[in-house]
Amino acid sequence: MVKELIYQGKAKSVYQSDNADHVIIEYRDDATAFNGVKKEALKDKGRVNNLFNAYIMQKLEQKGVKTHFIKTLNDNKSLMKRLEMIPVECVVRNYAAGGICKRLGLEKGMKFDKPVFEFFLKDDALGDPMINTSHILSFNWATASEIKFMREATFKVNDILSSVFDEAGLLLVDYKLEFGRFKNEILLGDEFSPDGCRLWDKETKEVFDKDRFRQDLGDVIGHYKTVAKRIGLVL
Ligand code: C5P
Repeated sequence: MVKELIYQGKAKSVYQSDNADHVIIEYRDDATAFNGVKKEALKDKGRVNNLFNAYIMQKLEQKGVKTHFIKTLNDNKSLMKRLEMIPVECVVRNYAAGGICKRLGLEKGMKFDKPVFEFFLKDDALGDPMINTSHILSFNWATASEIKFMREATFKVNDILSSVFDEAGLLLVDYKLEFGRFKNEILLGDEFSPDGCRLWDKETKEVFDKDRFRQDLGDVIGHYKTVAKRIGLVL
């Protein structure tokens, strides 16, 4: 049975479940960008992201990445372990796009010799500023071993998912992950969907991710569904 609302994010709502260690995450049809400035309801987005995330989390688990995912409950809801979230975002970039192009004046699409890793503080009011490990340690957002774990796990996810998308004819350009504490473990939390990564067609460089929404490219959810189909997820 669904209990009280614990947290209402921009696209997801988190409810307490009967088991104190578990939460129910509801994926809504809301899409936001630019820190909530652009906002729209996109039909079927909640269902697509819920099922997409479930599929990816299970793939990651099969390859040894521990996640909060337990099971889907219906089209829009999944049962997850209740995490104490670490307030940092871990970003890996394989190609230049978005924030790093602006910040460092890079040409979009440039392939990095080695993937770039960046930390951002999860803080909407501050616009999620970029931070480094020294900030994380000084402000006690995470310990040195937690930092090491998040970095290694984020790179492991890169190896696994770059090859999943490569086989589907897509480039995993970049993505963001969040982690949290559960008992004495660190688990991958939040979600992995086209909302939190960039995916381009390998040949044509057509955009298949949330940049379609950010840049008004149209048919956002149609493109998410195409990605799902290409990686073998029947929606
Ligand atoms: O905006 P930026 O280029 O720094 O984003 C890098 C990657 O992280 C993109 O795939 C973006 O969708 C994702 N991201 C996210 N949530 C944020 C910030 C970035 O999903 N708050």
